[in-house]
Amino acid sequence: MRSAEKKIEVGVRIPGEAAEYRIACGSGLLDSIGEVIRSATGDVRRVAVISNRKVFGLYGERVELSLKQAGVSVSSFMIGDGERFKTLKTAEKILAILNSEGIKRSDAVVALGGGVIGDAAGFAASLHLRGVALIQLPTTLLAMIDSSVGGKTGVNSSFGKNLIGTFHQPTAVIADVDVLATLDPRELSAGLFEAIKHGAISGERLLRTTEKMIDARGHDPKFIEASTRETFAKGIAEHVKFKASIVKGDAREAVGDVGNRSRKILNFGHTLAHALELATNYRYLKHGEAVGHGVIFAAELSKRLELLPPDSINFLNDVVHRVGGLPAVNKIDFEAVLSALSNDKKSRGGSIEWVLLEGIGRPEIVSDKTFPVGLLRSSLKAYLESTR
Ligand SMILES: NC(=O)c1ccc[n+]([C@@H]2O[C@H](COP(=O)([O-])OP(=O)(O)OC[C@H]3O[C@@H](n4cnc5c(N)ncnc54)[C@H](O)[C@@H]3O)[C@@H](O)[C@H]2O)c1
Ligand SMILES: [Zn+2]
Repeated sequence: MRSAEKKIEVGVRIPGEAAEYRIACGSGLLDSIGEVIRSATGDVRRVAVISNRKVFGLYGERVELSLKQAGVSVSSFMIGDGERFKTLKTAEKILAILNSEGIKRSDAVVALGGGVIGDAAGFAASLHLRGVALIQLPTTLLAMIDSSVGGKTGVNSSFGKNLIGTFHQPTAVIADVDVLATLDPRELSAGLFEAIKHGAISGERLLRTTEKMIDARGHDPKFIEASTRETFAKGIAEHVKFKASIVKGDAREAVGDVGNRSRKILNFGHTLAHALELATNYRYLKHGEAVGHGVIFAAELSKRLELLPPDSINFLNDVVHRVGGLPAVNKIDFEAVLSALSNDKKSRGGSIEWVLLEGIGRPEIVSDKTFPVGLLRSSLKAYLESTR
């Protein structure tokens, strides 16, 4: 039996885009994809569902059934599972499929999966016939609160992560919290670390909402109770509202904007996270785990620069540690992390803009040119060692 449908809707209007899109968060929503696609896209006849074997094996049948019941013809295609498949080659394969299936301008692509599927399928949807409708069905917490909202699509390449991409806003997003029950606990934690990142830059309210999700998961890790699903549905809706509020003001991440409402603030915790991921060849840490470290380290740097009061860093530390399971990073080669940071610096024209905190909910973009000599090195060494 399916759980009863209960949903919270968040509308997102991006300046310059023709229509508002709706993000539905709740329980039992997977079976409503057919109706959603009908009302969001009007004339759609064919849909290509892009997924991977694992996710499609769990939820594909329900999605296909709902689409067919809405009178839409459906074909489903699998791509490889994991970050290493988020490539131009995969995007090219999806494009070939959209072409051979005869997906027209008025048709749609449905991305059923985590951020990897959403980014790669979204990228292909933005290129096919110069852009067809994209419906995001995010199935990880990270994809629900972050990657499915905001319109960034893309793939990795030998030049780096996410450097090839487009802005292509979805036509609708459906976040059904029931699917989190099958998610690997480490993946759920990774999503919670990204949620803490949002809370840290948004304010105490969103951080408290995130704490409720962390506690609910601790008490009911299998999402058996309706109250757990409700806590997550409400929490995800709050996160989506926050992300949408930032994206609306700076949809294409304006290059020179370093204001504290610029889209760049969403990169809080990501400078160190990307360096840790690169230094370990993307194999040791989940992205969200790297962000968990990045959040604490950015807060630590903020404290050392006398921007952030000690009680705020204690609060953040506490929330991160309540999620649990953050792998230690003391064995990662310190010089490799520093060198990843300095590569980043070279590719950004000689300085890194760190997102730091003046308080919870008070992000500030600070160039490392203003850091005292040796601060980064000594703080980083101390941080990595502190995680043993
Ligand atoms: N576009 C953006 O704005 C944006 C923002 C943040 C992250 N991202 C991207 O998102 C990607 C990470 O996404 P992710 O963390 O969702 O990882 P992912 O897509 O690799 O999914 C993680 C794993 O969980 C499995 N899975 C997904 N849903 C499941 C479910 N309900 N039950 C069981 N297993 C399930 C997947 O098959 C995969 O093995 C990265 O590539 C990152 O760059 C993009
Ligand atoms: Zn991230």
